[in-house]
Amino acid sequence: MTELGIEVRDLNFSWRSGEKVIKSCSLEVPKGEFWMLLGTNGSGKSTLLRLLVGLLTPESGEIRVLHPVGFVFQNPDHQLVMPTVGADVAFGLVQERLPPAAVRTRVEEALGAVNLLALQRRPIYALSGGQKQRVAIAGALARRCEVLLLDEPTALLDPDSQLELVVSVRRLVKSQGITALWVTHRLDELNYCDGAFLMERGSLVDHGVDTRRLQQRLMQLDNEAS
Ligand SMILES: Nc1ncnc2c1ncn2[C@@H]1O[C@H](COP(=O)(O)OP(=O)(O)O)[C@@H](O)[C@H]1O
Ligand SMILES: [Mg+2]
Repeated sequence: MTELGIEVRDLNFSWRSGEKVIKSCSLEVPKGEFWMLLGTNGSGKSTLLRLLVGLLTPESGEIRVLHPVGFVFQNPDHQLVMPTVGADVAFGLVQERLPPAAVRTRVEEALGAVNLLALQRRPIYALSGGQKQRVAIAGALARRCEVLLLDEPTALLDPDSQLELVVSVRRLVKSQGITALWVTHRLDELNYCDGAFLMERGSLVDHGVDTRRLQQRLMQLDNEAS
């Protein structure tokens, strides 16, 4: 049997308003694979990721996710809390009670992996959007995450940094055996994943490794919505 990094069975979730936003969702991502989650605006992608990481509690259903889990938000300004690059990556390690030398090693390894080692002392405000996203990813890597969840990490990036980020995340998760689920609305990114899920009004309506077919289906759904 394939080992799974992420496994969801028959998940349901409603907001307090009663609006049911996750309807009987089931999905599996094999360990070490890089999958994407597509869907029109408001279809429930961010809610599903928040359930996976434990920020929300499901009404019913099962979630199994390898730990630790790293989470990267659409807007890195909502997640980077320390004044400098190195301090921010180290901040995520506070709970691990590592000796200072081990923290330094982890921070350096993680920043090296996202190609930001030279910017360790740089203030966060002096980074580009793509660099900030890489700092957020380094934070997850320093914690040795087994699973990485990314919620539209390229939404605020220009096309060059967008491509750079998806290529480097793919290379990283593949070389480190991390299981990743990347939410996107940008169809060109689909060329870099192992497979994708398509979400529509709270249900997972399609999935597979034939991303071209899923691309076409999403374009159709977008047209119907507009
Ligand atoms: N905090 C919230 N409280 C109530 N409803 C919400 C909240 N966040 C999102 N929603 C609603 O849940 C649905 C799914 O939203 P979301 O998961 O953000 O979709 P997506 O990420 O696919 O755009 C939408 O109808 C949205 O309005
Ligand atoms: Mg969203």
